[in-house]
Amino acid sequence: MLGRTNIVHRALAPGLAALLLLGVPAFAPPAAAKGRCGDRPWCDTRLSPDERAGLLAGAMTQAEKVALLGGDDVTGVAGGDRAHTGTQLGVPRLGLPTVFYSDGPVGPRQGRSTGLPIPLALAATFDRRLARDHGEIAAGEAAAKGNDVILGPTVNIARTPLGGRTYEAYGEDPYLASRMAVGWVRGAQSTGVIANLKHFAANNQEGVDPTNGILGPRAPLGISLQGNRLLSDSVMDERTLREIYLPAFEAAIKEGRAGSVMCAYNRLNGQYACENEHLLEQVLRREWGFQGYVLADYGAARNTAASLNNGLDFEPFPPLAYQPLALNAALATGLGSPATLDAHVRAILATWFRHGLFDRAAFTDDDAQIDKAAHARRSQRIAEQAITLLENRDRTLPLDPSRLDSVAVIGAAASTFVTGGGSGNVKPFSFTSTLSAIRARVGEGVRVTYDDGRDVGAAVAHARAADVAIVAVGDYYTEGADRACLTLQCPRINGNQDDLIERIAAANPRIVVVLESGGADLTPWRSRVAALMQAWYPGGQGGSAIARVLFGDVDPGGRLPITFPASAAQLPTAGDPARYPGTADFRVRYGEGVLVGYRWYDARRLAPAYPFGYGLSYTKIRISRLRIVRRRGGGARISVAVRNTGSRRGTAVPQLYLGLTAPAGVVQPPAQLRGFEKVELRPGQTRRVSFGVDRRALSYWDTAAGAWRVAPGCVDVRVGASSRDIARRATLPVGGARCR
Ligand code: BGC
Repeated sequence: MLGRTNIVHRALAPGLAALLLLGVPAFAPPAAAKGRCGDRPWCDTRLSPDERAGLLAGAMTQAEKVALLGGDDVTGVAGGDRAHTGTQLGVPRLGLPTVFYSDGPVGPRQGRSTGLPIPLALAATFDRRLARDHGEIAAGEAAAKGNDVILGPTVNIARTPLGGRTYEAYGEDPYLASRMAVGWVRGAQSTGVIANLKHFAANNQEGVDPTNGILGPRAPLGISLQGNRLLSDSVMDERTLREIYLPAFEAAIKEGRAGSVMCAYNRLNGQYACENEHLLEQVLRREWGFQGYVLADYGAARNTAASLNNGLDFEPFPPLAYQPLALNAALATGLGSPATLDAHVRAILATWFRHGLFDRAAFTDDDAQIDKAAHARRSQRIAEQAITLLENRDRTLPLDPSRLDSVAVIGAAASTFVTGGGSGNVKPFSFTSTLSAIRARVGEGVRVTYDDGRDVGAAVAHARAADVAIVAVGDYYTEGADRACLTLQCPRINGNQDDLIERIAAANPRIVVVLESGGADLTPWRSRVAALMQAWYPGGQGGSAIARVLFGDVDPGGRLPITFPASAAQLPTAGDPARYPGTADFRVRYGEGVLVGYRWYDARRLAPAYPFGYGLSYTKIRISRLRIVRRRGGGARISVAVRNTGSRRGTAVPQLYLGLTAPAGVVQPPAQLRGFEKVELRPGQTRRVSFGVDRRALSYWDTAAGAWRVAPGCVDVRVGASSRDIARRATLPVGGARCR
């Protein structure tokens, strides 16, 4: 009681001083919040969120607190109009509002939405501003559908491109994923909606699908057995966890101030994520200072007492571990304490106060509030900036309609909306197909024929008769099941698209392949096609974006956020079932350690089909004049001159990679991304681009010390156009080392 009075007093003091200065009588009533809170003690906006939460929690009965910890709707998860993915009932007598949740990282999964490009495409933009934009659109639409929390972003690392949810996240590199996550969360939370980082942590596979996706989108959650996410145990050393799998969460919390975190289905080193003391209490709260709340993935909470005591605040669906009966039993038997219950309630309430939930009107569910045309334009821009040009022989692209009589468009992906499955699945308000966008772009003068490619013979005849053949192919990634292989026959629902490409390439050498994919595919035909454009799952306006890049209205802006292997045998997990999908006891040993993605290819000197960071422009870019300015405290500022030496306006994405030093016995990847910038340049234009390198960027995780450490030595500094196209190199001495 005394404590509470003190708190109120402390918070009032500055306000009082200000009022006295202004000559306003000090007995003016407390500032009532503008929103729906009313004039209850916790509605005083001069108090801190924690103080307000303390006051409100103090007014709640134990039954009300218990009820708050479990979700209240089990049907909304099915999606559909007006169906919130989650509902947490409020307490009307206290004016505690009901809080609504919606998936997800690609936008709301509640009726229709803009149909944004997938997060992996967003990562391919290498553009922090677009990450913010994507988050703002997704969360803004969630708000317009009456939601307070958006269940995104997904920031899990693509440990293997087979992983079913690869499309939902930001690829294989922790630095790139961190920058995307921070931007997305900032954009999302600028709308008043609370972001939810998922899935914490090391949730990198769904499990093997024995049917090879035979049901496709008809099984929205896939089917998986071996290595199933609900049972799998991600077994790894602490350094791998800290350096690869946690940084995106850490950045989104420390820099992005994400309000909530979703603990994952899987176990981490033996303990389920939603009852994992190391993850939820030690790392998240004590080390990172997380002040938000943790909610469980749907069905991820197992044990009531273990969850209660190890950091799980809310179980949205279905409330099993946190159903009132179970919680009351735990409290009655002393397996959980009222103080612990209170701490969870306060964490939830304080987050809501911090994010203004009480101090604004309730969001209402009405799509008319969405500026659909503006969102479509912004979404298309993201898609354009994501399109990654992988091949362009003899300058096949951009196409010039004035030099074409006929175009054959082939493939189902040219006329259908291609996207991923599960909770990242969205249904767009509007959809412009590649076929219709090409037709509109070339106009009357050019004959455009279309064949869906099911009858390969017919498709080949079309291709042969045209000046150029544009073949759109797609893959399918979904939550719930991993891909059975990386060829375009996986899953089976799309037919043998590799054969389609080979046969068309044999009939017409001017073949442009447009890949609509949610991860990394094998491209065995890549040396036989004139051009290859990776468009990802480009969203509702994807067709327009693809057409604009095909015809050179915009430079292809994307760079690969994930390595495209030359064969499945190159994958870091290949040939070792203990690494993937795991053994019969569901343990998945992360034996490659920190050598994930390009780190693996570099360390093993493997030549991928297309390396991380790679993507062509229609113009020519030169990177030169590397400069390093060392900073006191151990960091540095590294800069290069970037020049457009071609004759078209174009995009450059200079990338900074560091080869860090390490003490004996610590495996260090040859190069790690530590900076990137995206710049648009006119012909002849030069810009100096600089990257800040702080101590953390030069550190490795010292497991014995439980801390980040800079190992003295000579850091290899590389700046280039991709992880394998290094234009400039230098050495940066750290920790007092002397280098050449
Ligand atoms: C997914 C989450 C999602 C939830 C609700 C789970 O299956 O793993 O990412 O937010 O469902 O749809």
